[in-house]
Amino acid sequence: MKIIIIGATGTLGKKISAAMEKDHEVIKAGSKSGDVLVDITSAPSIEKMYKQVGAFDALISAAGGGYFGPFDTMTEKEFRIGIESKLMGQVNLVLIGKNFINPKGSFTLTSGVLADDPVRGSSNLAAVNGALNAFVHAASLELQNNVRINVVSPGVVEDSPDHFPFFPGHVPVTMDRVVNAYLKSLLGIVNGQVIKVY
Ligand SMILES: NC(=O)c1ccc[n+]([C@@H]2O[C@H](COP(=O)([O-])OP(=O)(O)OC[C@H]3O[C@@H](n4cnc5c(N)ncnc54)[C@H](OP(=O)(O)O)[C@@H]3O)[C@@H](O)[C@H]2O)c1
Repeated sequence: MKIIIIGATGTLGKKISAAMEKDHEVIKAGSKSGDVLVDITSAPSIEKMYKQVGAFDALISAAGGGYFGPFDTMTEKEFRIGIESKLMGQVNLVLIGKNFINPKGSFTLTSGVLADDPVRGSSNLAAVNGALNAFVHAASLELQNNVRINVVSPGVVEDSPDHFPFFPGHVPVTMDRVVNAYLKSLLGIVNGQVIKVY
């Protein structure tokens, strides 16, 4: 399969890429480095990437940021960071990518545990993750040509120890489990699922 991985140099993306490039043609994408450059906060940039890559079989996104900080002082501008990056970035990867993906292809997005189990400072990312989970469920009902879509929702991962102090009581999840969730979406038959790893 020809697989585009957005965020391939990241903590999640590099392990996902390593697991997939053994058996597949992997095209790594990021805003600063990769086989192709893309800024997912820009629809024209996403369109340009898809035109550059051409038809493909699967898109995996492990990219997109949000605002993490005190609720008391949070502004609309800060809240929009997650909307424009993690939410609309990944939604646009699907809205634009559905015109380029091969029949029977798949999209796999990334949300996260904060949708179900928020921590202090996480209201922006919690809302974005919940929206992504709902988007995938609904979009799966309308995508054409047997194209599937799922979202992986990881807990805080063992490879992100800098996050641990912000997640009291959360048990870090192994990267093996997280990578397997992406493999399940890519190679399995699941569709419209939130694949939870926590
Ligand atoms: N780490 C965790 O414990 C954890 C847990 C649950 C969910 N998640 C979610 O998983 C996703 C990835 O997390 P991570 O920890 O792997 O992040 P990370 O280490 O910061 O990696 C982010 C990746 O995304 C790329 N990227 C950043 N901004 C981009 C943009 N505007 N357009 C295209 N690519 C962009 C980066 O490459 P460039 O620098 O080249 O752009 C990098 O490859 C995030 O949405 C995060 O919320 C993470």
